[in-house]
Amino acid sequence: MLIATQAVSLARRIIQERTPANVSAKGDRDMVTDVDLAVEEAVREFLAAETPEIGLLGEEHGQTGSTAQNWVLDPIDGTANFARGIPLCAVSLALVDGTKPVLAAIDAPFLDTRYTASSGAGAYVNGEPIECSSVENLSDAMISIGDFATGEHAAEKNRIRLNLLAELGANAQRIRMIGTAAIDMAWVAQGKLDATINLSNHPWDTMAGALVVREAGGMVVDHDGSDHSMESGYTIATTPGIYTAIMTRLADAQR
Ligand code: IPD
Repeated sequence: MLIATQAVSLARRIIQERTPANVSAKGDRDMVTDVDLAVEEAVREFLAAETPEIGLLGEEHGQTGSTAQNWVLDPIDGTANFARGIPLCAVSLALVDGTKPVLAAIDAPFLDTRYTASSGAGAYVNGEPIECSSVENLSDAMISIGDFATGEHAAEKNRIRLNLLAELGANAQRIRMIGTAAIDMAWVAQGKLDATINLSNHPWDTMAGALVVREAGGMVVDHDGSDHSMESGYTIATTPGIYTAIMTRLADAQR
């Protein structure tokens, strides 16, 4: 855990000290800033020196080395927020064994908050243990959803998102769109949110959050209820009390 927390501390310092000077397009309405790149490069260099035997998958530079265990890094999750000075963004770092995360650190530099978890040892915020909420009714639940899709097949993907929004909007207490899957999941673990539904799965956005949620007593699954992993298509993280209600609404939204 020490190496993971040192890595996210390094990332936090860069994010706090630098304002984005250059925002460039990666694809349809998808962007990267010079700070995303600087953070990924610094963390890569640090982890390569500390754990040369472990590979790394990063959002901006892809896979280097490939081993049974890999670090999975999003240097800035919530880049669109960060580029506009919205303080909801996080560094997300997981150690993944095969396809499952075993160690996680999520650092939100502008919230002065760090979430950590390791397999079987619980989830923590700034060193204090956290647990998912005990909410049991959708009508009491605050639920966040992931960003709308962009790029190829966006219209069809967004049809399901819009259906889901209608289903949840009609039944949940409140809906939120935070713009960073790592914070969405950390907030489910902390009980600030009761569920988060992201109809995509980029491992750098979700691997650390999945472990933090599980270690806080929550569930993280794919669209069919199978355990979430690197290979899942969707990322659904929820407190157990509303699991069935969430999966029923999601199934309805996909019709
Ligand atoms: C995005 C955020 C967002 C999620 C998107 C991700 P990025 O990550 O996590 O909440 O809905 O699917 O791509 O691009 O800001 O690292």
